[in-house]
Amino acid sequence: MTALELVITDIAEEVPGIRSVTLEAADGAPLPGYVPGSHVVLELGCGRRNAYSLTGDGVDPAAYRISVLHVPAGAGGNGGSEWIHRELTPGTKVGALLPRSAFPPVARARRHLLIAGGIGVTPILSHLRAARRWGREVQVLYTFRPGRGAHLDDIEDLAGGLPGPGLETCTEREAFTRRLDTVLAEQPIGTHLYVCGPGPMMDATLAAAAAAGWPDSRLHSERFGADALAPGEPFTVTVTHAGNRRELTVPSGVSLLETLERTGLDVPNMCRQGVCGECRLTVGGGTPLHRDLYLSDDEKAAGDAVMACVSRADGPTLEVSL
Ligand code: FES
Repeated sequence: MTALELVITDIAEEVPGIRSVTLEAADGAPLPGYVPGSHVVLELGCGRRNAYSLTGDGVDPAAYRISVLHVPAGAGGNGGSEWIHRELTPGTKVGALLPRSAFPPVARARRHLLIAGGIGVTPILSHLRAARRWGREVQVLYTFRPGRGAHLDDIEDLAGGLPGPGLETCTEREAFTRRLDTVLAEQPIGTHLYVCGPGPMMDATLAAAAAAGWPDSRLHSERFGADALAPGEPFTVTVTHAGNRRELTVPSGVSLLETLERTGLDVPNMCRQGVCGECRLTVGGGTPLHRDLYLSDDEKAAGDAVMACVSRADGPTLEVSL
């Protein structure tokens, strides 16, 4: 279901391999505001729906801005990034779902420790813009490959104008790890940590924070895509389809959706990232381990639906119907 019709009004090369895209309402109407750290799901011309972090602060946006890393379709991308980098031009119309929040700042935080890796800087930039609007205290640790620091000037400018220690950058993994341990140990009580980046970098950051005694309630992370998720435990799924029941094993590192596809079962899907809602299956038994950004908290708590592209079983078995 398309909620918004947008038009591309600008495309800019941030750094090699990262494009920033500006979208406005096709009819010129005001766009809905959003919570900092939100993502928007775009219906791409390649037949995919992908989610992208919005980089603004979300207040009365005249436009939505996203930044997209070029990931070739054959190198782990699903074709969406390739389409944005190769096909998209100003004037192209794109359908979108309303922005959704899954990574909001905590307003009462004493300080916001923002940690970004690579293209994971996009929701962090949104948080920083919100911090400037509300005068919040921040510290930013940004790691990227040499010459690939997207939005570096924006981040430097924003962080430098706010209370707190400002921005530190790292272009080597070892230097990042060393600084991370120190930075985690130095924070005043009441600091909240927000991290977005490649899966291993996020896992390492959250593990280091846990080892340093940070409570879960002050740790916030944003993961996009099945690749950024842990491989998960194997489980058995019982599938009911056209009156037949089949029992299948879902191995670690293989999604429920891939398992069903490998046995010839056809499941609608678009994003394969847990954001578009296409691969929703009805759960008849067992408990889902929800890892998607589509179902609401109430729907997740009800436990009667699962997004097959990213979610798994919380236990040894799950029963689903197609
Ligand atoms: S394919 Fe989009 S949520 Fe699963």
